[in-house]
Amino acid sequence: MIGVFDSGHGGLTVLRALHAAMPERQFLYLGDHAAAPYGNRTPEEVYRLTVDGVDRLFRQGAELVVLACNTASALALRRLQQTWLDQAWPGRRVLGVLVPMVEAITGVPWMADVPAGRLAGEPRTIAIFATPLTVRSEAFPREINKRAPEVRVVQQGCADLVPLIEADAPRDEIVAAVRRYVGALQQQLGGARPQAVMLGCTHYPLVADLFAEALPAGVEILSQPDLTVRSLDAYLRRHPEFDRRDHGPVRFFTTGDAARVTALATRFYGKPARFTHLEPSADPLMLAE
Ligand code: DGL
Repeated sequence: MIGVFDSGHGGLTVLRALHAAMPERQFLYLGDHAAAPYGNRTPEEVYRLTVDGVDRLFRQGAELVVLACNTASALALRRLQQTWLDQAWPGRRVLGVLVPMVEAITGVPWMADVPAGRLAGEPRTIAIFATPLTVRSEAFPREINKRAPEVRVVQQGCADLVPLIEADAPRDEIVAAVRRYVGALQQQLGGARPQAVMLGCTHYPLVADLFAEALPAGVEILSQPDLTVRSLDAYLRRHPEFDRRDHGPVRFFTTGDAARVTALATRFYGKPARFTHLEPSADPLMLAE
């Protein structure tokens, strides 16, 4: 089984694409709604909550977990892969939505040793919209520039966008917020035109049309759910030990109020998703390192 983890509803946009592309595989989803939004937490909190969420998906039977949350991927993926996973769950794997984005922009696989003396490509500008915590982590520019130093990465934090989308705010409020963030990005760019724009937060595909309207015509917007599908598909072909065709129904878990989460889920998943509450065994924020 493949686990999909997010701080809340946003990862359903990724799960929806994964399940549509791989209906024969069994997925488990966990949204940490009790602790969301992660974008306003400290890096240490995001790390502990993410480890706890992944641990719970493994206990439910997942063998491979996709962090369908940019904030969790930016703050926790590398650290948990390097310090926790092999001791706690040998043989299990954790992937994150940050990875296919970095690979798509740089053309260099995540696990590859970056060849010394690699010839730099043409200078390019890539713009990234994300939560303020993802932006502050510098994970996207760090991972992109390690592989492709010629890429100029300009990031714009969008503090209000997740709360507005979660609250199903009136469209004009969301339009105004998107225009404000695109305007702030354009100021940072100082007139330069980005070659591509990444929506580096799982909620933003729901308002991709508004970004497309606010950005200069013709700028390519990279689709994180589509890139994640391609990346997981390639991963499963390289790792047949995880490539099981279980044909089971998707199971949806939340650390929050299952009825409330179920009521909001359709907007993100595109069809009804019935959530079950998953009781935490201990407060993850109190766990010792
Ligand atoms: N899912 C998160 C992301 O992709 C955004 C929501 C949050 O702040 O918890 O960054």
